[in-house]
Amino acid sequence: MKNVVFGAVSAAALMSANAVVAEPQAEVLHWWTSGGEAKSVAVLQQEFADNGGTWTDMPVAGGGGDAAMSALRARVLAGNAPTAVQLKGPAIQEWYEEGVLADISAVAEAEGWADVLPASIAGHMMCEGTWCAAPVNVHRVDWIWANADVLEANGIAMPTTWDEFNAAAEKLQAAGIIPLAHGGQAWQDATVFEAVALGILGPDGFRKAFVELDEATLTSDEMIAVFDQMRTLRGYVDPNFPGRDWNLATAMVMNGEAAFQIMGDWAKGEFLAAGKAPGEDFLCASVPGEGFLYNVDSFAMFDVEGEDNQAGQALLAKLIVGPSFQKVFNLNKGSIPARVDVALDEFDSCAHLSAKDMTASSEGGSLLPSYAHGMALRGAQSGAITDVVTSHFNSDMSSEEAVKQLATAIANSL
Ligand code: GAL
Repeated sequence: MKNVVFGAVSAAALMSANAVVAEPQAEVLHWWTSGGEAKSVAVLQQEFADNGGTWTDMPVAGGGGDAAMSALRARVLAGNAPTAVQLKGPAIQEWYEEGVLADISAVAEAEGWADVLPASIAGHMMCEGTWCAAPVNVHRVDWIWANADVLEANGIAMPTTWDEFNAAAEKLQAAGIIPLAHGGQAWQDATVFEAVALGILGPDGFRKAFVELDEATLTSDEMIAVFDQMRTLRGYVDPNFPGRDWNLATAMVMNGEAAFQIMGDWAKGEFLAAGKAPGEDFLCASVPGEGFLYNVDSFAMFDVEGEDNQAGQALLAKLIVGPSFQKVFNLNKGSIPARVDVALDEFDSCAHLSAKDMTASSEGGSLLPSYAHGMALRGAQSGAITDVVTSHFNSDMSSEEAVKQLATAIANSL
């Protein structure tokens, strides 16, 4: 296993004001291309430039990052890895095991990351005791977003159970409004599925199913009920849903064409970028049920040659976890800072709810990694689950058949 430690020269050069400093450069692969996402990544580009860095942008459009990950694999196979890559969850360790990541421990230690990051987040950034990624934020996945005027005009309160959600959806449909804005892409189906599953299985059931891959839970009556609810939701989306990008679904909620969207809080970044205010124009609530599904964006540095590139990696890592970036970026992105010491005064009510629920879930044992966003499982297992979820959602497959396929798919993927 080959792992590369930052050249002592570049790390030291960065730290010392007197040294002859390399010119930091970074080619950054990411999938932040929607309105809110682009605004957020621009914050990092600006900070990098303000600190003497030269940024080469490599955006790969496609929500959830599937296309970006294919592009990454192609680049690494060609022996030409980008310097910095948006990468998260167990995929970080998978790439580490291929021996292609740089060790950013020198920066992490100099900046005291261990003191400012929660242990659960820091754990995702470590590879065999070294720091191999820098966390950007905490996105919560299990949210429902709603158009405030549409709910009010139809006498509907934000649902607190799936039955209430279904009743609201029936009423909206009868009034000619699309109940659920959804984009038919596998990762979006998976996002809705895991939010439904958290509510129906409960935090313990979720952990058993999507962290421990417990067969009894995967094939339980509760899991059948999860697929039943997915079938019900399928009846609430409009006929044009296949292939739609998630931010276009968010726009449907914004303009009142649809009432709800079940999506992580990057959707809030879209509302905010369009000048919409939480509590006035749009509402946020966690999906029915207990728990918190987290999705931590992070960047890993790939093993590249050249002092300028390595200085760029060190600078980028330092800025990403720095308090100023963590605040401004997350104000735009819809997430909350990964650092625990960033004041949330300027953040909105949805962010406050997220922070409060995250603390409570962490204390109560219901803080859970998102499977749909690559935080819980390795790619083969999460992909196997998503294949079943999406083929159920897009066919008339029964829920009983879906759980059978789920168990088989998982067994084959191990
Ligand atoms: C998630 C990612 C978010 C957001 C979203 C939609 O996987 O963590 O930052 O970009 O995809 O693209």
